[in-house]
Amino acid sequence: MAHFDPNARPFSHKWLNERLAIDTLKRVLSTEYWIPKNINFLWAMGMVLAATFGMLLISGIFLLMYYVPTTKEAFDSVNYTIMSQVGYGWLWRHIHGVAASVVFLIIYIHMFTGIYYGSYKRGREMIWISGMLLFVTFSAEAFSGYMLPWGQMSYWAGMVITNLFSLGSLHLNGLVEWIRGDYVPGQAFLSRFFMLHVLLMPLIIIGLIVLHFGTLRIPHVNNKDGEEFDFEAEAEKWKAGHRKESKVIPFNPVFLSKDVFVLGIYFMFFFYLVFYHFEFAMDPVNFDPANGLKTPPHIYPEWYFLWSYEILRPFSKNVGLIWFGFAQVIFFLLPFLDRSPNVAPANRRGIFKIWFWLLLIDMVGLTIMGKLPPVDPWSKFGTVFAYTFIALWFALPFITKMEKPVGGK
Ligand code: HEM
Repeated sequence: MAHFDPNARPFSHKWLNERLAIDTLKRVLSTEYWIPKNINFLWAMGMVLAATFGMLLISGIFLLMYYVPTTKEAFDSVNYTIMSQVGYGWLWRHIHGVAASVVFLIIYIHMFTGIYYGSYKRGREMIWISGMLLFVTFSAEAFSGYMLPWGQMSYWAGMVITNLFSLGSLHLNGLVEWIRGDYVPGQAFLSRFFMLHVLLMPLIIIGLIVLHFGTLRIPHVNNKDGEEFDFEAEAEKWKAGHRKESKVIPFNPVFLSKDVFVLGIYFMFFFYLVFYHFEFAMDPVNFDPANGLKTPPHIYPEWYFLWSYEILRPFSKNVGLIWFGFAQVIFFLLPFLDRSPNVAPANRRGIFKIWFWLLLIDMVGLTIMGKLPPVDPWSKFGTVFAYTFIALWFALPFITKMEKPVGGK
């Protein structure tokens, strides 16, 4: 039974501690949560992601105060009311737009760090899978948000993406209409994407972040050499004062202070974009109001979806859909397709090193080709990149199966 001191001053340390156990939390973070020493700044990307999600939530709440979710008023509520009538409305919009774009850049860096260091293997499969679930929900969150300004790109990207659900020659038009709530995107469409964007997806994301952090707890955070060691024994060394010899550091305050340092640098870059280069996050075509009678000459998604969109384009409708579906799920299977027992950085893993860099370059190539109009020579390059992407994933189990054990660490 907790003991409450009736004389404790409200909101003093003692008073708070009796009610919120803040000393226990501090003790747990300082003595029970250990991080390997042998990591670099790339391990701060998870915190950077969490902080960027926080920025999206805060700026989103401010935008929500003036946004009107109707097809008649949505465009003006964003481009006129928020941008020019509400004090600092432009700032919240720029923060939201820039954060929505930058969050994907950081997600890709975080994912490729995981791939490079093999952080999805040997007990860390669920970290990877919960991360991929976050990627998919962030994609749905970004797509539904893109519908809300009800500009030309919102309307036509909404049309093209929901059309995919007809599943090519299966002609499931009923399913497409059910998703849209109408024959074409309209009020029902906007209302449901509004609900998804401001309520359902953020709730799922918060739940998944909790799951992602939970999955990290048991196998511990990986390190630059994929080295396995006894965390408890290393933590004892630290506690006994042998800090140099210990391979771990406590989360609080040592690791946290380094995370905060990286966050500081990141936010300088972030606000530089918000104030001076926000336009990269805003498609000029979306500054025209939605018009169902005027198709834009070139419909393309935001940069972070371009690589998977480019996998769809070179093929006939049905085949394209199959490979598009393949691109959406294949990353989930990475822990099972990589058959090598080695947990080591890619540069020590022979052919896997080539595989890693080819995949990265290929996805950058797909992204660039996805932005360019589908005419030669770009569409030819796009086809080569799409085939390479597929071939790389088919090759992965074979090259990793042949991989020799890497000794040492
Ligand atoms: C978008 C929201 C996400 C948040 C807030 C988040 C947060 C974090 C945090 C705080 C860590 C621990 C520190 C670090 O390594 O950075 C971490 C680790 C990890 N995350 Fe994420 N993550 C997210 C998305 C993803 C995605 C999309 C993937 C990939 C599919 C992923 C895969 C991993 C892996 C494999 C680790 C373990 C790294 C290691 O053990 O060294 N995460 N994440």
